[in-house]
Amino acid sequence: MPGNKTLVLVSRPNGPLAPDHFAIVDKEIPALAEGQIKVRNFYASLDPGIRKTLGEDKSYWQPTPLGAALTANTVGRVLESRHAGFQPGDLVFGTGAMQEISVYTPGKMCWKLPPDSRLPLSAHVSILGGTGLTAYFGLLDVGKPQAGETVLVSGAAGAVGSIVGQIAKIKGCRVIGIAGGPEKTRRVVEKYGFDGVIDYRGKSREDLQAAIAELCPDGVDLYFDNIGGIQLDAALSQMKWRGRVAVCGLISEYERTEGSGQIMHNLFSIVAKTLRVEGFLSFVYHQQFREAQRELEQWILEGRLVYDDYIREGIESAPEAFMALFSGANNGKVMVRIAAPDDAI
Ligand SMILES: NC(=O)c1ccc[n+]([C@@H]2O[C@H](COP(=O)([O-])OP(=O)(O)OC[C@H]3O[C@@H](n4cnc5c(N)ncnc54)[C@H](OP(=O)(O)O)[C@@H]3O)[C@@H](O)[C@H]2O)c1
Repeated sequence: MPGNKTLVLVSRPNGPLAPDHFAIVDKEIPALAEGQIKVRNFYASLDPGIRKTLGEDKSYWQPTPLGAALTANTVGRVLESRHAGFQPGDLVFGTGAMQEISVYTPGKMCWKLPPDSRLPLSAHVSILGGTGLTAYFGLLDVGKPQAGETVLVSGAAGAVGSIVGQIAKIKGCRVIGIAGGPEKTRRVVEKYGFDGVIDYRGKSREDLQAAIAELCPDGVDLYFDNIGGIQLDAALSQMKWRGRVAVCGLISEYERTEGSGQIMHNLFSIVAKTLRVEGFLSFVYHQQFREAQRELEQWILEGRLVYDDYIREGIESAPEAFMALFSGANNGKVMVRIAAPDDAI
């Protein structure tokens, strides 16, 4: 039986992640049942939301049991098939385990990659996968930006935030980002084309409010939040009457320990300005993914949209890559290359 290296959770973090919360173990590859496929994975994503499954509380997924694999989005090639619609050699996307070889049931968070895509395989777990699709549906369907509006985006140098800002620009909005540190803030303006940016590091809630007020003097129509905490609190104070807040994620809260949270000061703005505050999960849009992937790829090929991938080599690098999401060390979508793709699409 060949090995199947898999990233598993060995202890529950209480606060920041550390390498010893994880282990790489060999898992058995189950025999294929009728309707299943066996896939060699090339790339696997590390998604901040998975941090929420490492504790004991239920989030949108069940807690990861100790000893079980971490969930990841993967792209890979079919090795063996007991599904009539899939042949060995097909390239597929799947949501499953962070491991070398996965058994998937097509139709259940597993499908073929678009055969006509001209982007590299890694793009299918980033700009054409969870990252790009989250930005696309969160901004366009939840946020509903209108040309001429002011859009504020937190996590603006990140995988989702950088795409949100660029799509908002494509839609004719004025876009301001919030990101951490001089290198990231420079990239937000110079590479992703935002109209302005705020470096949140070292700033209090009041400082952030003042910085947003300065760059958005008429207020914010739409705030796309990836971060939560004082960035959300500060943004609420600067929203326009009937503004919208698209809540994509609250990464500043994911490693918070019991009792360490900040008090929100501006929640009453939701009432006073009759704001619409709406959370969303990208996978509820799965029936519209193909259409969105086509548009995202078109924008990339036309040079109107750029994206960055932060790729680390080997499944052994997954714990460190995961931790980069919370330290801010990543520049783009965090993923690991589990095996070299054997050829292009
Ligand atoms: N709703 C959905 O369906 C969905 C799907 C995918 C992702 N998401 C959410 O989208 C957000 C962004 O995810 P991503 O994959 O694109 O990650 P990312 O933005 O590429 O990386 C995470 C970034 O968050 C910032 N950060 C981390 N901890 C922070 C803290 N304590 N305070 C302030 N900033 C902090 C860091 O940026 P700086 O260096 O700038 O601080 C870090 O680089 C997350 O909240 C994630 O949960 C939601």
